[in-house]
Amino acid sequence: MTLKIPHHDINLEPFMSGPPDFNRKLERIPTERSLKSQILAAIPLTDQEKLFHIRICDPAERGNFSFLPGQFVMLELPGCGEVAISISGSSSNREFLELCVRKVGKVTGMLHRLEAGAFVGIRGPFGTHFPMQEMTDANVLLIAGGLGIVPLRSTIYWGNEHRRDYKDITILYGARDPSQILFDYQVEEWRRIYGLRILTIVEHPDDYWDGRVGLITDLFEDVPIDPDNTFAVVCGPPVMFKFVCTHLSNLGLPRQRMFVSLERRMHCGMGKCCRCNVGSTFTCLDGPVFDYWTVMNLKEAI
Ligand SMILES: Cc1cc2nc3c(=O)[nH]c(=O)nc-3n(C[C@H](O)[C@H](O)[C@H](O)COP(=O)(O)OP(=O)(O)OC[C@H]3O[C@@H](n4cnc5c(N)ncnc54)[C@H](O)[C@@H]3O)c2cc1C
Ligand code: FES
Repeated sequence: MTLKIPHHDINLEPFMSGPPDFNRKLERIPTERSLKSQILAAIPLTDQEKLFHIRICDPAERGNFSFLPGQFVMLELPGCGEVAISISGSSSNREFLELCVRKVGKVTGMLHRLEAGAFVGIRGPFGTHFPMQEMTDANVLLIAGGLGIVPLRSTIYWGNEHRRDYKDITILYGARDPSQILFDYQVEEWRRIYGLRILTIVEHPDDYWDGRVGLITDLFEDVPIDPDNTFAVVCGPPVMFKFVCTHLSNLGLPRQRMFVSLERRMHCGMGKCCRCNVGSTFTCLDGPVFDYWTVMNLKEAI
């Protein structure tokens, strides 16, 4: 008996109607050019972090620049290099960008030496953003460890500006010690004026600290979580993701409703240089924001 295999024309499958876009040319946005920008202010926050207000010089380019919480820019110091930095301010502020930068090496060290008036380059915005639309009508839990509060700050502004779209917005923020708490001068404003619930915790208290002491997961004891109607956004050191997301998972929150922001060394920001790959994904294009289910299925993501 001969087995008759029906003819199957792969070109008739809708998703194969054109050649695969392996280079993602279609998704690319024209962000190869650095926009000339000027530092308006360089505000020290801690001994390691400064908040920079940076304005794109050309009014038309400034007007065209828009971003969503979670996206990042490539900040260029001419003659020194470029670094990926999350946008930390409000997406409705079209006057200047707020970037909070930790001094860790060559470019960030040089940036910390610059003062108001200095010129830098901005490319972007790049990457995926937090699911602000999908979170509508749900409780939002923002969990930040250390520098992780930086990308979450633009989410906090968004939450305030679209307050009616969300139910409870809770922020859990953990730092190594009280001197490392970023934006502590805004915490009271976020609590009282924005109507957000904010719980902070430090690992190593000083003599003046009268708040919670411990790890960020200890704060879950104080926060009732409705697993059926909550989204969580987690930003911080990768080691934190596992502990926090496992904890949330044990509370019944689906991993598809937990979002994390991955950090990789980046060069081009647009899927060209292959510096930021995790498996077959580019952190600069497919991320940095991923849902935790995807992250768990990506080899060596965290
Ligand atoms: C999407 C994204 C958003 C980011 N947002 C911010 C932000 O808002 N604020 C901020 O301060 N930093 C942020 N970073 C990290 C920042 O890009 C790096 O700290 C910066 O590139 C270091 O450059 P450098 O020349 O000063 O240090 P280098 O001299 O290149 O390196 C100094 C040290 O830092 C390590 N390092 C460098 N880059 C990274 C990286 N991407 N991840 C982990 N370790 C690294 C190096 O291995 C080395 O040990 C972000 C990174 C990514 C990918
Ligand atoms: S940074 Fe170059 S491919 Fe992602």
